[in-house]
Amino acid sequence: MRIVFGVRTRTPNDSNAERPERLERPKRPERSVKKLIIAIDGPSGAGKGTIARTIADSLGYRHVDTGAMYRAVGWKAEADGISLEDEAAVAALADRAEVVVEGGVVSIDGHDVTRAIRTPEIDKVAAAVAKLPRVRAVLVARQRKSGEAGGVVMEGRDIGSVVFPEADVKIYLDASAAERARRRANDPQHTGGQAGTAAVAASIAARDRADSTRTASPLTIAPGAVYIDTTDLPIDRVVDTVLALVRQRSS
Ligand code: DC
Repeated sequence: MRIVFGVRTRTPNDSNAERPERLERPKRPERSVKKLIIAIDGPSGAGKGTIARTIADSLGYRHVDTGAMYRAVGWKAEADGISLEDEAAVAALADRAEVVVEGGVVSIDGHDVTRAIRTPEIDKVAAAVAKLPRVRAVLVARQRKSGEAGGVVMEGRDIGSVVFPEADVKIYLDASAAERARRRANDPQHTGGQAGTAAVAASIAARDRADSTRTASPLTIAPGAVYIDTTDLPIDRVVDTVLALVRQRSS
C-alpha cells in the first residue's frame, strides 16, 4: 500500500482494489500567511476609497478610512459648539470620543454620521481639524493600534509617511485635478454633488492646498511608495496593480 497525497491506493490483491479509499490529507505545518499592512495615500478624488475597499474585500482584510475619523471629530466639534481654533478642546474631544469607521458605517459616540460627514461644510471642518497636531497625535495613535496586527488596508494622507512608515505595501494614488473634481461631483455618497463640477473643483483645490501645506504631517509621497496616476485607468487595472504588489511582498 502506498500513500500518495493522502489517497491510499490498493494493491491488486486488496479487496475493493478498484475503489481507492480517501484518507484525510496528512497535516502539513500551516504555512503562516502574513497579514500585511497596506497603506494607501493620496489627495481627494484620487480613488482611494474605492480601491482600498476593493483590495480589502478581495484579501479579506479590514478597510480603515482615516479621513472619516477627522470628519467625525470635526462633526462632533461643530455639534458640541467647540471652536476649531481651540486645539486643546478639540484634542480632548477626540480623545474622549468613540469613533467607529469600519464596515462602511461611521459613528461617533453612538451617532451614525455616515451621511452627515460627507458635505461641503464638513470637508472644510475636517481639513481644519486635520491641521491640529494634538488631534493628529490622538488619531494616529488609534490608527496604529487598529492596524498593527496587519490584515488591514488603511487609507488617508499620512499612512505611509507617519502612521505606518514600515507598511508592507505603500501606494500613492493620484489623478489630474479635473478628473478628481469630476469624480467627486458624481460621488453619490458625497452631497457636494449638487454643487456642480466647477464648485467642487474649487473646493478640492482649496483642500489640496490645505492638506499639502499644513505643517503637521502634510500630504506627501512617502519614501518607498508606489505612485499610480489613476486619471485614465479603470478601477480594475489599479486593483490588479496593487494586488500584484501585495503578492510580491507577501511571498
Ligand atoms: O479623505 P477625506 O477627504 O475624507 O479626509 C478628510 C480630511 O482629513 C482631509 O482634509 C484630509 C484629512 N486627512 C488627513 O489629514 N490625514 C489622514 N490620514 C486622512 C485625512
